[in-house]
Amino acid sequence: MATGIISLSTVLSIFFILISIPIPSSSCPLHQKQALLRFKSTLTAIFDSNSDPNSDDYMPFTRTIAELHLDAVVPLFDNPVSVYSDILNPLFEIRSLRLLDISMNSLVGEIPGDGFGNLTGLVHLDMMQNGFNGSIPRQIFRLTSLRYLDLSTNSLQGELGPELGSLRNLTTLTLSVNRFEGLIPRQLFELGLLHTLDLSNNTLEGGLSSEVGKLRNLESFKLNENYITGNVPEEIGNLTNLRELSLARNRFSGGIPDSIVNLKNLESLDLSENSFSGQIPSNIGELRHVTTLDLSKNQLTGPIQSSIRNLTRLETLRLKNNMLTGEIPSWLFKIKTLKKLFIGGKGSRLIWNHTSKIVPRCRLEQISMPSCGISGQIPKWISTQKALDFLDLNSNQLQGGFPNWLAEMEVGSIILSDNKLTGKLPPQLFESISLSILALSRNNFSGELPENLGTASRIMILMLSGNNFSGQIPMSISNIYRLLLLDLSRNRFSGDKFPVFGDNPLLAYIDLSYNEFSGRIPVTFSTETQILSLGGNKFSGELPVNLSNLINLEHLDIHDNDITGNFQDVIPQIPGLQVLNLRNNSLKGFIPKTISNLTSLRILDLSGNKLTGNIPLEIGNLARMIETPDLLPSVDIFNFFIEFQDLILNWKSSFQGISSRNLDIYSFLNLADNRISGKIPATLGNLKGLKLLNISHNRISGDIPVSFGNLKDIESLDLSHNEISGSIPQSFSNLNQLTILDVSNNKLRGKIPTGGQMNTMNELSYFANNSGLCGMQIRIKCPEDIQPPGGQEMDDGKLSWVSWEGVWVGFPVGLFSSILFMAYALNFIYLFKFW
Ligand SMILES: *[C@@H]1O[C@H](CO)[C@@H](O)[C@H](O)[C@H]1NC(C)=O
Ligand SMILES: *[C@@H]1O[C@H](CO)[C@@H](O)[C@H](O)[C@H]1NC(C)=O
Ligand SMILES: *[C@@H]1O[C@H](CO)[C@@H](O)[C@H](O)[C@H]1NC(C)=O
Ligand SMILES: *[C@@H]1O[C@H](CO)[C@@H](O)[C@H](O)[C@H]1NC(C)=O
Ligand SMILES: *[C@@H]1O[C@H](CO)[C@@H](O)[C@H](O)[C@H]1NC(C)=O
Ligand SMILES: *[C@@H]1O[C@H](CO)[C@@H](O)[C@H](O)[C@H]1NC(C)=O
Ligand SMILES: *[C@@H]1O[C@H](CO)[C@@H](O)[C@H](O)[C@H]1NC(C)=O
Ligand SMILES: *[C@@H]1O[C@H](CO)[C@@H](O)[C@H](O)[C@H]1NC(C)=O
Ligand SMILES: *[C@@H]1O[C@H](CO)[C@@H](O)[C@H](O)[C@H]1NC(C)=O
Ligand SMILES: *[C@@H]1O[C@H](CO)[C@@H](O)[C@H](O)[C@H]1NC(C)=O
Ligand SMILES: *[C@@H]1O[C@H](CO)[C@@H](O)[C@H](O)[C@H]1NC(C)=O
Ligand SMILES: *[C@@H]1O[C@H](CO)[C@@H](O)[C@H](O)[C@H]1NC(C)=O
Repeated sequence: MATGIISLSTVLSIFFILISIPIPSSSCPLHQKQALLRFKSTLTAIFDSNSDPNSDDYMPFTRTIAELHLDAVVPLFDNPVSVYSDILNPLFEIRSLRLLDISMNSLVGEIPGDGFGNLTGLVHLDMMQNGFNGSIPRQIFRLTSLRYLDLSTNSLQGELGPELGSLRNLTTLTLSVNRFEGLIPRQLFELGLLHTLDLSNNTLEGGLSSEVGKLRNLESFKLNENYITGNVPEEIGNLTNLRELSLARNRFSGGIPDSIVNLKNLESLDLSENSFSGQIPSNIGELRHVTTLDLSKNQLTGPIQSSIRNLTRLETLRLKNNMLTGEIPSWLFKIKTLKKLFIGGKGSRLIWNHTSKIVPRCRLEQISMPSCGISGQIPKWISTQKALDFLDLNSNQLQGGFPNWLAEMEVGSIILSDNKLTGKLPPQLFESISLSILALSRNNFSGELPENLGTASRIMILMLSGNNFSGQIPMSISNIYRLLLLDLSRNRFSGDKFPVFGDNPLLAYIDLSYNEFSGRIPVTFSTETQILSLGGNKFSGELPVNLSNLINLEHLDIHDNDITGNFQDVIPQIPGLQVLNLRNNSLKGFIPKTISNLTSLRILDLSGNKLTGNIPLEIGNLARMIETPDLLPSVDIFNFFIEFQDLILNWKSSFQGISSRNLDIYSFLNLADNRISGKIPATLGNLKGLKLLNISHNRISGDIPVSFGNLKDIESLDLSHNEISGSIPQSFSNLNQLTILDVSNNKLRGKIPTGGQMNTMNELSYFANNSGLCGMQIRIKCPEDIQPPGGQEMDDGKLSWVSWEGVWVGFPVGLFSSILFMAYALNFIYLFKFW
């Protein structure tokens, strides 16, 4: 079988990333010390073996060590420079060194320039995948005999200086995955012996040459945005020995230089993920040796150039996510060598010609043709592609059933989401031992899932959301030991018996929402579960106490069910829980003080239940609602997948619900529609990170705490339908993000505060049914504002009304649209019913 597009090891390494993020520590942890010692002893061993002048093989190492590989012996995560430079120092004495490979260690800090500058005989220097930071020291540019220089996958930064041009003998230059920025120095194009140039994944730009830096006396220089086009200079065509060129994942723009076709030795050209525009050079077919052509994720327009058919060695063609137009040429499938074809995708305007008959001569392993306007049945010619391992035809207009021939092809990944496919899934599909991704979301498949589902025990991702499947989940599903993600949401699955997932070591994401499941909430999930979404079903009974055994749970969503019991008895005790959504159930009891033990909680929705009692003071201790959320990269397994896969369209839309990265920065608290009474605790004002607070439709009395003026991020505040009295505190004028304020149906009186966003709160119904509110927002003058009669004064009064209106017009609507999106994403629509 062909290997899957993502192998198990990939998945495991994703997990590794998740679990093993080193915890920074100022002291040197024991394991690091041990590693350090191990490194030292390795070095000593190398040295010692040569240090006995009487031994037969004595050779002073300073002359004989020509090659030194220090392979992955030093997992030192965050030790300061001095520690490792002490270790490296002996190396710098070895003048005869020709090859130095310290790749894939964990060396950190700046590259010790002096030391490397001493290694004047170096031909091959490989420092990839360490933690080096700072800029490339100049001394490295003096190592003029270097032929091979790999500094990739570090944290190096700064501009690539013109000194790079001194390394005349370089044949391989790999600077990818760093933080280099700025323009490519012209001198780079003088390195005529280069056969491999990889500058990918930095933030380099094309455009002006470094010569600009020589204009020392220039006083004023206008860098108009239109002026810097960020082109890759035509001189790139001077590097005629290049066999590999990657400028991927930078910020290059402008056209692809025509001179690129001078690079007649090119075997691999990767310009993906930049902003290249214009057409693909029409004579690109002259690059006869090219096996990989990757222009995906740019803004290229025009047709798929017909000269591409002359690329008789082409194996990989990636043109996805551009704005290419015209017909998808049928000759593509006549390129005998073609193995991987990625076209269409976001922005694509390519057309599929349904009348042209495709008789492939290629032997494709990967076909990705999303958004290509393919209609009718799944094209039959695909069945001739016997080595097919990856098939992605999402977002087309495919109709008809899941073909038996496809079910029998042993394809590793099948992605057919967002089409109009119908009928049952053929059981043969699950006889496959290769199937690892099956994504059929948003079609019109129906019927029960085949009982033999679990025979396909290698499935990692199973996404069937938004179809018309019915019946129970086949019990055999628990045999799928590699299952990582299970999305069966929005179907008509039913039943109260659930497969046991306890032994599935990877299963982290389970979405069964919007089906017709009934019975008690199942607790047969693996303790690895991070996201559990069961909303919109017919679950009933109490929340099982042993849900708390799911210690890795971050999102628990059971909204729109009929869960009963006392909240205080069943509140899950999971410190890592970030989202708890129990909206629209039948919970009784009260919110216990121990709510503050859920120290990670960001989103809590208990609305639409039958909770009584007070809002506990302790709710003001919920740390994640207090801190202003920042944009820390979310440790989110699914984002990793999005990066790994070409599934972006697919995944983004199915993941919006829960793991959207943005969602991580919002915090919501919704206690609306219960029977909560008592006063509002002033501690609620501590929750400075809240975007939305809703305690409406309860029996809350007393005053609005002045501390609400501290809710500096709040955008929507709903206190309506309670028995709140007193006046609206003046501190509300500090709420600079406030977009919606509903205090209607209370017993409030007095002047509505003015200032800041408060001046824009002029929706009358949000103030209705109170006991005497007044203010310019609702066009009711407050007693204190009514001036004694007298022409002059009245005029002033009129004037001020007019200017208020002006202020109102001038205020922006804040960020509410983003909240609305998030609300939609989380099915918080209900919150906004008052809209
Ligand atoms: C480089 O060599 C000089 C002598 O030429 C020596 O003094 C210096 O210590 C060496 N640098 C390092 C870091 O080893
Ligand atoms: C490089 O990393 C070290 C610690 O790893 C840090 O102390 C130093 O400030 C960093 N230097 C730069 C230029 O970022
Ligand atoms: C560059 O390579 C050539 C040919 O191999 C060699 O003669 C020359 O000495 C090298 N230059 C340096 C600075 O090592
Ligand atoms: C690009 O580099 C950044 C770090 O600089 C890294 O997080 C990201 O995963 C890299 N992307 C790829 C595709 O290598
Ligand atoms: C590139 O080659 C052209 C001739 O084809 C030459 O005029 C130009 O100087 C070269 N540029 C560089 C930077 O070597
Ligand atoms: C393919 O190459 C041949 C010469 O080998 C040339 O005549 C022809 O025009 C090329 N086709 C395209 C479409 O560029
Ligand atoms: C589709 O292909 C057929 C046969 O190759 C051709 O005759 C027809 O013009 C094409 N249709 C369009 C719209 O290009
Ligand atoms: C789905 O398929 C059924 C028949 O299997 C059909 O009745 C129904 O209209 C289809 N629904 C949609 C939305 O296409
Ligand atoms: C789902 O299937 C049933 C028949 O099994 C059909 O009546 C219904 O229209 C289908 N629903 C949709 C949304 O297609
Ligand atoms: C919860 O308890 C039930 C039976 O009491 C058991 O079957 C299930 O495995 C438990 N679940 C967890 C997650 O511990
Ligand atoms: C509450 O959930 C039930 C299903 O359990 C649903 O029918 C109802 O529409 C939901 N109510 C609201 C207000 O969302
Ligand atoms: C809540 O945390 C406190 C300590 O902060 C601890 O004493 C108590 O047992 C915890 N309660 C529960 C129910 O875990």
